[in-house]
Amino acid sequence: MATTVFTIANQKGGVGKTTTAVNLAAALAEQKIHTLLIDLDPQANATSAIGVEKTEGRSLYGPLHGDGSAIDMITPTSIEHLALIPAEEDLAAAEIELSQMENYLMKLRAILAPLRATNGYRAIIIDCPPALGMLSMNSLAAADHLLITLQCEYMALEGLGQILRNVERLKTADVNADLELGGVIMTMFDGRTNLSRQIVEEVKEHLPEKIFSTLIPRTVRLSEAPSFGKTIFDYDPTGVGSTAYRDLGQEVIQRFALK
Ligand SMILES: Nc1ncnc2c1ncn2[C@@H]1O[C@H](COP(=O)(O)OP(=O)(O)OP(=O)(O)O)[C@@H](O)[C@H]1O
Ligand SMILES: [Mg+2]
Repeated sequence: MATTVFTIANQKGGVGKTTTAVNLAAALAEQKIHTLLIDLDPQANATSAIGVEKTEGRSLYGPLHGDGSAIDMITPTSIEHLALIPAEEDLAAAEIELSQMENYLMKLRAILAPLRATNGYRAIIIDCPPALGMLSMNSLAAADHLLITLQCEYMALEGLGQILRNVERLKTADVNADLELGGVIMTMFDGRTNLSRQIVEEVKEHLPEKIFSTLIPRTVRLSEAPSFGKTIFDYDPTGVGSTAYRDLGQEVIQRFALK
């Protein structure tokens, strides 16, 4: 089966992009779906959350500059069926350098093409930095589906219009005609507050076909797991965080026919 590429992007910081990238990737892997997680954020939060040591020369920095291939950067994780391309700080420089290159929006797409062609992975999940800069825009140009995480907080929808306009622009400019908004994932949901419920209702109204019915609850377990280099399934296998990301995984598998 072909590879489906997802990018998890939102220029807003701290909205659950990395937590979702890591645990959704692990949920797919648990279902024996060969999954590759790509950490495209110089903060390298996904890399450490999955328990991989940062190693110099293992990020996509080199390949984005024509030095080495993305395939060479694939690093195994302790989780079966889940591999990683790590990030390191040097990716921050790529953010600037990319803009000076020819075809600067197409760099990531080009280096992922041979990886897609191997059909070695059914799903690729890209974790983006909190900016709509060169790295995020490259991920949008390379992906089949954009997944947006929204924190169930005041002003959650702020910036949503901007990212959706960027998707339309990439489509009409023929940078990535196939790009679709794959879904909206509500994170840090607190059922005890009216605000959380109101935000979910608001998104349901705006994007009824796109919102996933799984709401990711706010739970301290999800915030603790990364400091142990563990996914939620290894850190708290029976907790509400695990249940939620497992449910989200099932929804993603169904919506995109990954199995
Ligand atoms: N469902 C949740 N419940 C509790 N804490 C959470 C939850 N999801 C994420 N967090 C915590 O909130 C913070 C931000 O989450 P995360 O790093 O996933 O967001 P991000 O969008 O990737 O951030 P950045 O924009 O900096 O990359 C982290 O400390 C994380 O552990
Ligand atoms: Mg992050």
